[in-house]
Amino acid sequence: MTFRDIKKVGIIGAGTMGRGIAQVFALFNYPVVLIDRESVLGVAIPKIKERTAPELWDKVRSLITTDTDMKRVRDCGLIIEAVYEELDVKKEVFASLSSICAPTAIIATNTSAIPIGELARFVKDPSRFAGMHFMNPPKVMKLVEVVRGPETSDETIEVIEGLARAIEKVPAIVGDTPGFVSNRLLFALLGEAFRVLESGVATKASIDTVMKYGMNHPMGPIELADFMGLDICLHIMEFLHKSLGDDKYRPTEELKTLVKEGKLGRKTGEGFYRYAAR
Ligand code: CAA
Repeated sequence: MTFRDIKKVGIIGAGTMGRGIAQVFALFNYPVVLIDRESVLGVAIPKIKERTAPELWDKVRSLITTDTDMKRVRDCGLIIEAVYEELDVKKEVFASLSSICAPTAIIATNTSAIPIGELARFVKDPSRFAGMHFMNPPKVMKLVEVVRGPETSDETIEVIEGLARAIEKVPAIVGDTPGFVSNRLLFALLGEAFRVLESGVATKASIDTVMKYGMNHPMGPIELADFMGLDICLHIMEFLHKSLGDDKYRPTEELKTLVKEGKLGRKTGEGFYRYAAR
């Protein structure tokens, strides 16, 4: 089997990542089945339209089928799970997929931190299971982190790698560790930025200026945390802190307080920074 055998892609979860991944595959002419609750799908389609060039919209829309019934991914060669980062929620999805999908189907997860080996316990065939980790926003960010679990076959990795290239992404194959490579490195930076801020050494604007103009990052770390969502940042940091036992991932009090107050970053209009209503 090669990536060319994958003719249709199923995506479970139509939040920021799921809908962005659906958009990317449709832009590259793959039929996509996007599964979620009606209320989430109702938001996802207009959001995809907002970020699609008008001349490409008819094509993209015609290639994306939305449904609330997971059985609709039955004829998909690749199914990407992009639901909330809770083990129980993911477990339920994988259990359903195991009875729905063809034995030849590849199941991938877009988890940002949970080890593939841990999730592989819930799929029927762990050799056909791997991480396919897109970055936010999926349409723009070139990286796809391809995560090899303890039982992932070479063929599965090759198919995912080939598909990533077919949608003009740059794959990086990495081993199985909490947070993989992307989030172990990113949250080492973000955690340190939060601690510098907490210590009063520099303002958030100065910290962002240092990284933007000193290291050519498109966004400074504080701005990036707001962009990703502070609830998501807190969740990943707590997970990394617990699983790796390394204090550099310990969330700061300010981060915890902002999340408790519902100041989750750009999506709520306030996080570390305040944003004008869109
Ligand atoms: N959602 C979708 N697309 C978006 C977007 C969003 N929120 N914001 C911008 N874009 C798209 C625009 O539609 C535009 O696309 P086209 O070129 O096709 O028209 C493109 O991005 C550039 O848009 P702008 O000129 O308005 O914006 P910009 O030049 O300021 O770039 C950015 C915006 C791409 C977000 C840039 O600031 C950037 O690269 N930031 C860093 C993002 C990053 O580091 N992401 C990784 C997060 S970590 C992660 O995802 C891993 C994890 O597991 C948590």
